[in-house]
Amino acid sequence: MICCLNPNCENPQNPDGTNYCLSCGTQLRSLLRNRYRIIAPLGRGGFARTYVAEDIDKLNERCVVKQLVLSQFYGSQGTHAHQKATQLFEREAKRLQELGEHLQIPNLYGYFKEGEYLYLVQQFIEGQNLLQELKQYGFFDEGKIRSFLNDLLSVLVAIHQQQIIHRDIKPENIIRRKSDNKLVLIDFGVSKQKAETTTTAIGTIIGSLGYAPIEQMQFGKVFPSSDMYSLGITCFHLLTNISPSNFWLKQGYGWTSSWRKHLTQPISQELELILDKLLQENHEQRYQSAQAVLQDLNNLPPLRHTLPPTVISPSKLLESQSQTQQKTTGYLPQFSNSKLFSGAIITGSGSSLLTIALISFLGTTWISSGLWLLILGGVILIQSRSLLEKSYLIVIAIIANSLIVLTFKSLLTNNLLQSGINGLLLVVLLVLLAGFLTLIIVSMSEIINKLISKYF
Ligand SMILES: Nc1ncnc2c1ncn2[C@@H]1O[C@H](COP(=O)(O)OP(=O)(O)O)[C@@H](O)[C@H]1O
Ligand SMILES: [Mg+2]
Repeated sequence: MICCLNPNCENPQNPDGTNYCLSCGTQLRSLLRNRYRIIAPLGRGGFARTYVAEDIDKLNERCVVKQLVLSQFYGSQGTHAHQKATQLFEREAKRLQELGEHLQIPNLYGYFKEGEYLYLVQQFIEGQNLLQELKQYGFFDEGKIRSFLNDLLSVLVAIHQQQIIHRDIKPENIIRRKSDNKLVLIDFGVSKQKAETTTTAIGTIIGSLGYAPIEQMQFGKVFPSSDMYSLGITCFHLLTNISPSNFWLKQGYGWTSSWRKHLTQPISQELELILDKLLQENHEQRYQSAQAVLQDLNNLPPLRHTLPPTVISPSKLLESQSQTQQKTTGYLPQFSNSKLFSGAIITGSGSSLLTIALISFLGTTWISSGLWLLILGGVILIQSRSLLEKSYLIVIAIIANSLIVLTFKSLLTNNLLQSGINGLLLVVLLVLLAGFLTLIIVSMSEIINKLISKYF
């Protein structure tokens, strides 16, 4: 196959031996620089086309050739947009040269002008980008998000150490390398040295809509925390399989404060807090460094179910994803044990005190139950817990209180709170009993949950 290098060609692939493109009539080049055979297009970005190629000087080793396309800026050479695009392309080459030593960033092989185009040649990374992975295997679960963060943050620590901000972190710009499953960060086209102060005149190349933080979009200012915002948005996209661009177009940055409501699977409260801090609109309130996120990530309690190791073959990935999805979404929500038990005991005993007070003063169980449900529901709902955790706590409180009310109904209608020391003593005993009951209910549901996920 010979690939046509006209960036506007709709059907660039031609059979071997063809001299002119069968689709657009452009003369075909069998080799670039007498060395690189372009095989097929890989992507069409803002101002570049990316192709997969073979290096005939290296026994036909695969490489990636990126071509700068200036025709879209209409202006002739020397206009500001033209210069800016050339400068950004050159910058990408420079960044790859500086950072290519890192195992999770492609090496730069060449940078040259041929014909009317500028070209950048880099190491080919075999694997899928995370957008392709998302399309093929569906949303990431918490285990996969944790390992994604761990892996990518170590790359971001390294590039930030060299004072470079990537500025375009998104699933398409992260490739999972097939040979070792490591994540490789690509597309340094708009990356920026911290000290540089550029305001770009080309609206389309300052980052990606929906992923870039407000300071980058509005003022062209970036900090390490700007990459942290795009990382948070990327996690959101991977967790929900919802592209953030639409939200951004409709609501700007407002939607990120309620990102949780789009979750379709439970995640731990601790991970929610990390994502919340990544997604802060104000860059000063965000994580200030990749290192700080890594630290919080390493302090997360282990996931309650052991997740399968990162998978090597696509079929295994499919299999393991369905297993982990079953484990994390199928039964009870995944909270940390200590939080779950303490949350349940507090809800159980607190709500029983409320029950006793309501029944004592109103003297009727039916109206009291309605009021009880309203008050308790309201208190639990306004807390920043996940929806599943809220429902879980409400159900447990209902069970514990129903048991107490049914067993001690005659005692409760006697207005215990106003019958002296003995009444108060009874109230304390009942509250303790309710706390103990919730503990038993939670432990039993935990055991059942474990048994179900182990055997089914
Ligand atoms: N080094 C590489 N190895 C393998 N695939 C790559 C490589 N670089 C880019 N690609 C693929 O090509 C697509 C476009 O490349 P990218 O550098 O992100 O350019 P753009 O500026 O067009 O977004 C990527 O999403 C990825 O799928
Ligand atoms: Mg890209």
